[in-house]
Amino acid sequence: MNLNLYLNEKRKTVDNFLKKYISSKKKQKDCPENLYSAMSYALMAGGKRVRPILCIAGCESAGGKPDGVLPVAAALELIHTYSLIHDDLPAMDNDDFRRNQLTTHKVFGEAAAILAGDALLTDAFNMVSRADANPKTLINVISELSHACGPEGMVGGQTVDVLFEGKKAAKKDLFYIHTHKTGALIRASIRIGAIMANGSQDKLDSLTEYGEKVGLAFQIIDDILDQTGTIEELGKSTGADDARGKNTYPSTFGLKESQRVAERLINESLCAINSFSKKADPLREIAKYILSRRN
Ligand code: IPE
Ligand code: IPE
Ligand code: MG
Ligand code: MG
Ligand code: MG
Repeated sequence: MNLNLYLNEKRKTVDNFLKKYISSKKKQKDCPENLYSAMSYALMAGGKRVRPILCIAGCESAGGKPDGVLPVAAALELIHTYSLIHDDLPAMDNDDFRRNQLTTHKVFGEAAAILAGDALLTDAFNMVSRADANPKTLINVISELSHACGPEGMVGGQTVDVLFEGKKAAKKDLFYIHTHKTGALIRASIRIGAIMANGSQDKLDSLTEYGEKVGLAFQIIDDILDQTGTIEELGKSTGADDARGKNTYPSTFGLKESQRVAERLINESLCAINSFSKKADPLREIAKYILSRRN
């Protein structure tokens, strides 16, 4: 399969869905103009749409149809974008650039950025509630999603990330940070795809393992790119982790060893879905892409 074609096609599908969502916001007179503008600014600035695409690919690998899963896949991007807006705030990573443009708080102010994040998070669940699926399936999705982005998931990871800023975290704490701040939502993206497809428990278990490995590798590569990438490639400032005293894989294990760990995780993710048919080829290619990506 041609991964670039696949990624471009799915990205376009997700972007079109998000465009419709954001223009419907504009028409709703109860959503203040300033709030709509900040939400749209952050959401429509590009972004690789990795989580929605993983959700769609996870759904396909478990025998589901990609169309039905779209509102749920798009909801993952709303949550991810909220997490980026808040992650960039002065109280957190204090970053000025994101997705090749000034961060949301730089343009709209901190209050508007916080509220745009809140709005995207809340609307994500509204979007899931409108998906065309069996109510029991949707409740499973909501349970999965809220757990992955809540205190035992992404927010937990972000909390420990900030707590250890400027201090040396133990390896187990570094592992907690990375598997939670980033790994949890990525793992959930794939699982939610499989849940929407009504996949078997066996398939779900294998996809969970795939998601865990790929999710951790994604953040390790993000850490590596912070040291080795350029602002033009990444669309965000580089060297920011060391400057803020963040605990990262490269600061703990060195660049070479971090790269090796990421490679091992990607190999393990491929093994986890070894028994899957060709329908899992997109997942296989995406795993390799996560390792080789430059942005
Ligand atoms: C960046 O995520 C933040 C992390 C969780 C590592 P992405 O690298 O997916 O950023 P976008 O969505 O493409 O901008
Ligand atoms: C972000 O991790 C994780 C979340 C937003 C949940 P980083 O702080 O490393 O992400 P970047 O490097 O700013 O994109
Ligand atoms: Mg951060
Ligand atoms: Mg950050
Ligand atoms: Mg980073």
